[in-house]
Amino acid sequence: MPGQSHDARTKAGSLGLTETGLGLLVGRSPAMCELQGLMLQVGPSSASVLIVGESGVGKELVARTLHALSPRSEGPFVGVNCAAIPETLLEAELFGHERGAFTGAEARRAGCFELANHGTLFLDEMSLLPPASQAKLLRVLEERSFRRLRGAEEIKLDVRVLAAMGQDPELALRRGEVRADLYYRLNVFTLRVPALRERLEELPLLVEHFVRELGRANGKRLQGASPAVLEALERYPWPGNVRELRNVVERAVILAADGGEIGLEELPPHFLPPSPTPLGTAAVEPTSADGVAGTPTLEATLRDLILRTLAVTGNNKTQAAKLLGISTRTIYNKLRAWSLPLQPAAHENQ
Ligand SMILES: Nc1ncnc2c1ncn2[C@@H]1O[C@H](COP(=O)(O)OP(=O)(O)OP(=O)(O)O)[C@@H](O)[C@H]1O
Ligand SMILES: [Mg+2]
Repeated sequence: MPGQSHDARTKAGSLGLTETGLGLLVGRSPAMCELQGLMLQVGPSSASVLIVGESGVGKELVARTLHALSPRSEGPFVGVNCAAIPETLLEAELFGHERGAFTGAEARRAGCFELANHGTLFLDEMSLLPPASQAKLLRVLEERSFRRLRGAEEIKLDVRVLAAMGQDPELALRRGEVRADLYYRLNVFTLRVPALRERLEELPLLVEHFVRELGRANGKRLQGASPAVLEALERYPWPGNVRELRNVVERAVILAADGGEIGLEELPPHFLPPSPTPLGTAAVEPTSADGVAGTPTLEATLRDLILRTLAVTGNNKTQAAKLLGISTRTIYNKLRAWSLPLQPAAHENQ
């Protein structure tokens, strides 16, 4: 199903604060310590929590950790990415349907709410729910019961709802993208996950964590990253946050020699300091076949930039547009012009 992840293996092992973080959430900068302290307080309650932060900061990891900290941890954790589901399927996806509720509905199907019963429902990109679905969601939260599409039976619910948003909730409210009543219902607590650039002191710990994790996954034993690599990583603004860092480390782990250390050569070119070679000599890397005499054209550079940003945002075009300071429509137009597929945003599920 698009945008849906469902599993019950969320128990985050030994859940408590350690020197490296809280459960699976690595990081002990002052900003992260504050977040983790709040998580330890609100986790065990049944309160709704709104998790706010840029793309790739770890909102889903925070949600899974809150679930693991709660008395519902043995119950299911169901994640649904509201942005990834076509509007026409949303209500069927959330509330389920009876047989024959619409063309193609050949059997009764449980929706996310029902699947999450006695557990936690995580609504990712909540602000992208259409207003009608927001109203219906609010009704379910208040009445603690719902009906499947075309269903007569009123089903009782015992679900904790966690919601995530990539943008500032106050702004979304002012723009009318989020219903105020739903916002105040979900916003019993707001947890802000800081951007990676606001906690660069965590880079060495995160890099070490990912080198170990991805080394294991790729069958390599590595010594970590060189000081020059850490310096280069610290100079970068990380628009795609921890997800982007994980991708950079994964690439480096694959390129690095077994038993060795990750060096500058294993980083993508945009991490390397500009070379002091004078203009006009062989300093320009022939990055694209579209270029003339090794110099990439503006169009090729734009294409590279857009594709790289989409990779960072998990193919989320709205976020990519925001990061690049262009309109979402421009991204769609460009992808169409380059005959590239316009897939919906993938749901990150790890
Ligand atoms: N503090 C952290 N420690 C370890 N891994 C992390 C941390 N933060 C994020 N990650 C990893 O980075 C990736 C992105 O995290 P996650 O999916 O939770 O971000 P997100 O905020 O939900 O992103 P999006 O807004 O795109 O949905 C995942 O692989 C996650 O495991
Ligand atoms: Mg997410």
